[in-house]
Amino acid sequence: MARRSLPAFALLVLLGLSLPSFGAQIPFFSSPIATPGKTSPSIEIDVGQWNLSVGPSTESASHLVFDTVASLLQHWPNTRYRNGHNIVPGIVPVGTLLYHDRPWQGTPDKPDWVATDPEHARWFCASFESSPRCWHMSFVATRPLKILYFDGSSAAKMQGGSMDTQDYVAWNASRPDWIWNEEGRIADLCDWGKSYRLDGFYRMEMDFEIMLCDFASGIQLVSSVQLDPLHTFPDPTGSGEILPDLGLLRMNYQVIQAGSWHNFYPGEARLKLDLTRLISFYDTDTFPSLVQARSGVDRLQHRISGISEKDVQVFHERLDEVLRDFGNPQDVHLVQDSGSRSGVDWRTLYQVIVDRYADRLEMLQYILNSTDPTAENYSQNNTRTVENAMYRLQLILTTYALRTARPPTVDTGVDEDLSWASPVYQYCATTHTSALYPVKSSFTRSEHLLLSALEATNREICRVLVRLWGEGMQAGIDPGLPFQPKEGDDDSGSGESWSPMLNRWRDEVNGLMGWLGWSLWLKCRPECGIEEICYLPTWPWFKRPHPSISNESFEGNFGGADHDNDPDRDWKNPLPRCIRHVEPFDWRYVKILDYV
Ligand SMILES: *[C@@H]1O[C@H](CO)[C@@H](O)[C@H](O)[C@H]1NC(C)=O
Ligand SMILES: *[C@@H]1O[C@H](CO)[C@@H](O)[C@H](O)[C@H]1NC(C)=O
Ligand SMILES: *[C@@H]1O[C@H](CO)[C@@H](O)[C@H](O)[C@H]1NC(C)=O
Ligand SMILES: *[C@@H]1O[C@H](CO)[C@@H](O)[C@H](O)[C@H]1NC(C)=O
Ligand SMILES: *[C@@H]1O[C@H](CO)[C@@H](O)[C@H](O)[C@H]1NC(C)=O
Ligand SMILES: *[C@@H]1O[C@H](CO)[C@@H](O)[C@H](O)[C@H]1NC(C)=O
Repeated sequence: MARRSLPAFALLVLLGLSLPSFGAQIPFFSSPIATPGKTSPSIEIDVGQWNLSVGPSTESASHLVFDTVASLLQHWPNTRYRNGHNIVPGIVPVGTLLYHDRPWQGTPDKPDWVATDPEHARWFCASFESSPRCWHMSFVATRPLKILYFDGSSAAKMQGGSMDTQDYVAWNASRPDWIWNEEGRIADLCDWGKSYRLDGFYRMEMDFEIMLCDFASGIQLVSSVQLDPLHTFPDPTGSGEILPDLGLLRMNYQVIQAGSWHNFYPGEARLKLDLTRLISFYDTDTFPSLVQARSGVDRLQHRISGISEKDVQVFHERLDEVLRDFGNPQDVHLVQDSGSRSGVDWRTLYQVIVDRYADRLEMLQYILNSTDPTAENYSQNNTRTVENAMYRLQLILTTYALRTARPPTVDTGVDEDLSWASPVYQYCATTHTSALYPVKSSFTRSEHLLLSALEATNREICRVLVRLWGEGMQAGIDPGLPFQPKEGDDDSGSGESWSPMLNRWRDEVNGLMGWLGWSLWLKCRPECGIEEICYLPTWPWFKRPHPSISNESFEGNFGGADHDNDPDRDWKNPLPRCIRHVEPFDWRYVKILDYV
């Protein structure tokens, strides 16, 4: 295996950028990254380790840990990937308002639900169809509340796995027959949580909510008022047709809108998560039985109900480990300040990676898409496309493209050895995490998972990008230089000979983006009009019911155009569509209870 050393100036660059700023107690030169020589695997380039042809193993779930962690508390991604895989303790800070609505007055005397947005709380009244009254109560947290968060659409009362994680906490099993046993679920979860002094459980449906265990502890009533009752809006058309209940309809829109305020980072910010205590079912070391269960299964269908008994036991041990000392006063401060005890702000660090690549990968994909004859912006000028793509790649890699990394000879074809580009790959892949190595010894088990998932994900992004860039450089496309037409090009100047390479690039970028699976890229295309919002179908408002149930008990839909002829697609693979949010709404309403 060929080894090449990074030139001295590059070493300085690495050292300069990796000086940690975690406080004086950490010696700068105790880390692998800062110690040149044999003990420093990350300085000496091992082109075997940094082989641009070798991607992640198919069993690796690092990208799934990455994406689910980067998506925590965000409505859009957790609507798309309904089946949660993370359980994270967190703190609801003092002063946070929580809402509970019911048709009668008085604070609940047993575990019950509170919403973080009042629009959502109003919806609670709607489940009591017959009552014209709605008491709207707001409470304030008088001490930090200790909450356990289940990600995904963990409050969506659906078949298919959205409630699995909480059911394994409460009952050690997935209970599809108990989907509607919400009273039993909250009672058993709260019972279980007593030994850890948990105040409640955070879940998501069309908006976020908390299952609160004790209304007499940690919160105080702020106000209790009677609001305008629901169901009072007259049918404006007077058509005599059986129309939806417009009051209810308007309220439903309000809940959808309130949920959409938390669509993307930072998402629902009223819960401060302690990521140093995160448990992920995508952690293949901790839950090996799920690797097999996920094999060959589309990510949308990943769930934890295939877990082995042994892993369930491990799960409970992990829960005990992360919750045993959770929420001591010193902890609470740290969690509220930086989200972690080690001081590393993991959520921000993850978001930095998403910010750096989400838009730029999308633009690169758009440029390469133009080589696809079925694409709207199909361009036959491959010369222009290859230049544009290469310019994009250079922009993305501009802060990693070491001056010394140049192809040995230019324009020798793309099959050449790309090992000259390995230093760029390595630098790109380690730059966000190498500075954390000096503090690694203080990391919790969860943080080691967070670090390795971030490294593996960033590494694969860098591998694909550097590989394409390296191929382009090697083929003599350097947008910084006057363009050299490729030998053998046809006279038309359309660059036909670039076609095989561009097609491969397109596949690679599509492959990378598919592997990453970031929900930011799931958009309404074309963009919605000003009277519309982009709606990602969520329980209970799909276009059609689950095929296993009759249409009669199905609540209804928010209209919008059908994407295809598969009526079940909405709940299998929710895709966004534009729906009206200015009346007249396009809506077919059946009834509100007993939906799947
Ligand atoms: C990189 O990996 C490819 C595919 O596994 C292999 O053919 C090649 O020899 C490797 N290159 C180096 C420098 O290790
Ligand atoms: C679930 O399993 C764990 C460990 O395997 C056990 O301690 C716990 O009592 C079980 N809980 C229920 C509700 O069966
Ligand atoms: C590129 O094409 C793919 C496949 O048709 C499509 O899914 C994707 O949205 C397109 N990307 C952009 C940025 O237009
Ligand atoms: C296609 O390209 C044209 C001209 O650059 C641009 O105006 C149009 O918005 C593009 N279409 C899409 C779907 O991106
Ligand atoms: C293709 O694009 C290149 C670079 O933008 C340009 O120089 C060339 O004239 C174009 N060829 C055709 C046939 O349009
Ligand atoms: C529900 O309605 C759809 C469309 O009207 C129909 O195709 C389907 O067969 C119905 N399903 C059941 C279970 O009645």
